Amino acid sequence: MTPTRSMRSNRLTTSILFTFLLASSASALWALSFPFPSRQQQIALEHKEHQSIMDKILPGIVQPQKTAPDEDVNAKDSSSPIISDVLPKTKGINIFARLTRDFEPVANRLNDASKNITVLAPRNSAIQALPRKPWENPEDYKKFGEVNAYEGQDGQDRAKRNLQRFVEAHLIPASPWRVGEEVETLAGEKLKWTKEGDKIFIQPGNIEVNSVAEKVHNGEVWVLNDVINYRQG
Ligand SMILES: *[C@@H]1O[C@H](CO)[C@@H](O)[C@H](O)[C@H]1NC(C)=O
Repeated sequence: MTPTRSMRSNRLTTSILFTFLLASSASALWALSFPFPSRQQQIALEHKEHQSIMDKILPGIVQPQKTAPDEDVNAKDSSSPIISDVLPKTKGINIFARLTRDFEPVANRLNDASKNITVLAPRNSAIQALPRKPWENPEDYKKFGEVNAYEGQDGQDRAKRNLQRFVEAHLIPASPWRVGEEVETLAGEKLKWTKEGDKIFIQPGNIEVNSVAEKVHNGEVWVLNDVINYRQG
């Protein structure tokens, strides 16, 4: 029996919904210890133009549908997707993908089809296993104390800066990125990669690349088994 149109679209809806639930449960988990949980909502309200692909795909579920689906936008997405389209859909890295959308300069860069980028996306498990959260800097604790480091407006600003730096330490403003080629990340650290057998390692740090998950018009998404050793301050 050949699948009917409606069976096929049901299956598609189910799988999209499942991906969406996975993504939202990961960010909910993350939000448990996030010092500014309403940030994402603010961003969503303030920057409608940066709607995630999920919001575009699921207008009826995520929010009341206000306009008819835009055929041109959908056609463009499927013919020449860019990094900002594929990052939210890449498996196992939705914590990092989410973080890239929390900072406007980063989100804009990934959304710029004219500028190539290599995204080094650490797996969720690597971010969750960090001994401290990406917005925590031991220097801040020394300077401002355990209790006050991330309290109040100053503290939140510090946390946001640290977190943005963490995200930028994983973005290489070049693609293709060639073996041995040193490139400064958006956070200003020079990185290169080496190959052993068919495995790729980011240097310094010998960070193993799990896979090159996406290759699109303006760059590539590499999934990392660990985080880049980022400098803060
Ligand atoms: C950007 O990436 C594309 C491949 O998607 C490549 O053909 C092009 O040469 C790259 N541009 C630069 C400036 O590296």
